[in-house]
Amino acid sequence: MGTPLLIRGLVVSCRYAVTDVFGLRLKALSGYRRGGSAKREKRSVTMSVPTLGVILNGATGRMGYRQHLVRSVLAIRDQGGVELADGRRVQVEPLLVGRSADKLREIAERHGVTRWTTDLDGALSDDTTSIYFDAQITSAREKAVRAAIAAGKHIYAEKPVAEAAGDALALGKLADDAGVVHGVVHDKLFLPGLLKLRRLIDGGFFGRILSVRGEFGYWVFEGDWQSAQRPSWNYRAEDGGGIVLDMFCHWNYVLENLFGRVQAVTAKAVTHVAERWDEQGEPYPATADDSAYGIFELESGIIAQINSSWCVRVNRDELVEFQVDGTEGSAVAGLRKCRVQHRSATPKPVWNPDLPATESFRDQWTEVPDNAEFDNGFKAQWEQYLRDVVAGRPHVYDFFAAARGIQLAEAGLTSSAEGRRVVL
Ligand SMILES: NC(=O)c1ccc[n+]([C@@H]2O[C@H](COP(=O)([O-])OP(=O)(O)OC[C@H]3O[C@@H](n4cnc5c(N)ncnc54)[C@H](O)[C@@H]3O)[C@@H](O)[C@H]2O)c1
Repeated sequence: MGTPLLIRGLVVSCRYAVTDVFGLRLKALSGYRRGGSAKREKRSVTMSVPTLGVILNGATGRMGYRQHLVRSVLAIRDQGGVELADGRRVQVEPLLVGRSADKLREIAERHGVTRWTTDLDGALSDDTTSIYFDAQITSAREKAVRAAIAAGKHIYAEKPVAEAAGDALALGKLADDAGVVHGVVHDKLFLPGLLKLRRLIDGGFFGRILSVRGEFGYWVFEGDWQSAQRPSWNYRAEDGGGIVLDMFCHWNYVLENLFGRVQAVTAKAVTHVAERWDEQGEPYPATADDSAYGIFELESGIIAQINSSWCVRVNRDELVEFQVDGTEGSAVAGLRKCRVQHRSATPKPVWNPDLPATESFRDQWTEVPDNAEFDNGFKAQWEQYLRDVVAGRPHVYDFFAAARGIQLAEAGLTSSAEGRRVVL
């Protein structure tokens, strides 16, 4: 392990202690910590800002490093912590975990992080940490999360939390039994484009929503003549790869939070590019699906159709876009932007292939203004999760939501393999 943590304030090591500091729901949570000593639970308040120790496992990875460490946890630390509803703040301090000591040391030095380790068990037994976060490769997650729950940590994790829905469900029950706050990354809901879409839905802009068409994807290089911009495990089923497992988890929470729960799926998953080259420049067979074409029937009656592909070249404004059509208006929302066309401003095109198009259809849409400052989506959810931990209340995007996402992925794969519509 690296040098000892410089504690900037009170280190809060468990939910009991957190509630001790903030005076919230202490009774309901007492007795939660396993093997916790009174000494550990009753830390003295030495400074006004308490600190939550956060284990960040997978800190060297693409998501773990950029989005979760740099853009979220360190950004929160640098802004002086998270503000709570009553105006008080809680600070965070990361403990980096990974497989390569050299990489961890380098990252820690670059960002002024004082603690890192390649020993997960050691990190989990460290009582200055109360939260375990996992952004490892998908196939490594479940085992580590189980260990973290057993160590009494609150758990926040990248999606998918496990490779099978049943395993994710079991993790949720285990976490509930242990009394820890569990959450899974639902970053797309916090994107400016989707927040604007949410605003339109809440404001009744669409009237009755009829359909959603999503287009996600970009060309991921095979790795031979240009290096691939995604890790090679994404293209190996045996390592937890595949676009259905990756993206249907996202589509499930986007659909259920904006439009209604998915009731049935019809999907076709394919591997368009059969051979790729890995990080060492070695060829390998791509055993996982790299594209998926799905139709999702929602409880609200809305039909959503979403293409997901790492084998398409982008002719869109953003890497993901959703077109929503309703009786009163339509919108196209991407990562950041959202354009609308109201019923009253809808043109009346007439089909005539003998004539060139006389109008620019794209120019007939209106940009939805920001009307707010949008923070990084990953950071926004981190802040929400941290507030939930401090308050000792469930995080809305919990492991059960995570399990539903994996269930949709499994149903999509079944639909594809068996050539049929699958009811959830
Ligand atoms: N929320 C999102 O938008 C989003 C986007 C991409 C990926 N993800 C998820 O984040 C997780 C990490 O994806 P990534 O793209 O950062 O991957 P990555 O390959 O860049 O990082 C994987 C991390 O896992 C660690 N690891 C542990 N055991 C490993 C093993 N046996 N082989 C390889 N690496 C191992 C690596 O050291 C590394 O830190 C995945 O579960 C993925 O589904 C989420």
